Amino acid sequence: MKGCIISQQSLSSRWIEAAMKNYFDSVDSFNLKDIEECLEQGKMTIMHKGKALERYDCVYIRGSFRYANLLESIAAAIEDECYTPITSRGFTIGHDKILNMIAFALGKVPIPRSYLFSNVKKAKEFLEKNANYPIIIKIPNGTQGKGVLYADSYASASSVLDTLSALRQPFLVQEYVESGNSDLRVIVAGKKVVAAMMRRAKIGEKRANIHAGGEGEPVLIDDKTKEVAVKAAKSMGASICAIDILYGAKGPVAIEGNLSPGLQGITRATKIDVADEIARFLFEESKNFMENKNGTATSKLFKELGITPVKANQKTSFVSSLNFKGNNLLIPKEIFKECNFNSDDEFEIFTDKGYLEIKKLPKD
Ligand SMILES: Nc1ncnc2c1ncn2[C@@H]1O[C@H](COP(=O)(O)OP(=O)(O)O)[C@@H](O)[C@H]1O
Ligand SMILES: [Mg+2]
Repeated sequence: MKGCIISQQSLSSRWIEAAMKNYFDSVDSFNLKDIEECLEQGKMTIMHKGKALERYDCVYIRGSFRYANLLESIAAAIEDECYTPITSRGFTIGHDKILNMIAFALGKVPIPRSYLFSNVKKAKEFLEKNANYPIIIKIPNGTQGKGVLYADSYASASSVLDTLSALRQPFLVQEYVESGNSDLRVIVAGKKVVAAMMRRAKIGEKRANIHAGGEGEPVLIDDKTKEVAVKAAKSMGASICAIDILYGAKGPVAIEGNLSPGLQGITRATKIDVADEIARFLFEESKNFMENKNGTATSKLFKELGITPVKANQKTSFVSSLNFKGNNLLIPKEIFKECNFNSDDEFEIFTDKGYLEIKKLPKD
């Protein structure tokens, strides 16, 4: 299996690259700055220093919001061909805090109540009458606490909004969640939480980001919080990401997803080899992805070659290899299309050593 990582080659990305080498047969690492992409009718070509990229089984794409369009289009070009843990849509959502909240809301993820307005005047009208202070105002692109503004009164909210208006910044108004000036940083890989830490804001600071001076400490999170993190990651189309969660009076709420989280702080705080967890997940998922893809390709090929399944005792028999996804067996539609199996049917399953038979039970 051939793996690839495209990133800004930060220390965290280099850790993941090194860990991937323990699982994949080979791993190429490219600097995002040296990547170009050519878009044509029905065709997108990714190039590294002018040379088209070869085919990989897995490409892990990382990079900051400054490269959002490039990251999105790299994923779009290859996501059907190889395993990419973050979908192209995921990059669009993940690099915009407002789209992020919309995806969470749509994905039924618990979030702080948030408001969008057509303009600053309307926002002020609302804040004058309805808001409980403090409130949070967020702009689409800021990381490390820089896109998050805190206002403890109508007067301060109003002046923040005037500044944003002058800068022509879109914004979102959000309920402030009292969480003891701390937040949870949770790393998700697929359906699993890999590591979690609690970050406390430094004295006099409302934002708990490590870059804003916050400290990380290991924390055991409950099942509800894990569920919020996994659901949040899924809602934004990211199989690997960090979800920031506030634990308020109403329980855990997701405030943000990060597609290229730094690993130093969380590795130091939890002593978990997060890079290794990510690399192993990438390998397993890539294997599943390629097996699935090849399985579908094989049945297509059979059809194209005109190989007809044999009929014996009224039963049709096939000779084929089978696809496993994790512990589950996947059977291509090609094979069972004559069986009239539907997802709401009941089945009787007979097994023996080296034998499996599935019979649809009649509906009564
Ligand atoms: N609704 C909120 N209520 C209280 N604190 C918040 C809220 N949203 C953000 N914060 C604080 O600000 C920090 C940064 O917010 P976040 O949305 O994660 O943006 P980023 O980390 O990209 O700057 C959070 O870690 C948290 O401490
Ligand atoms: Mg954050």
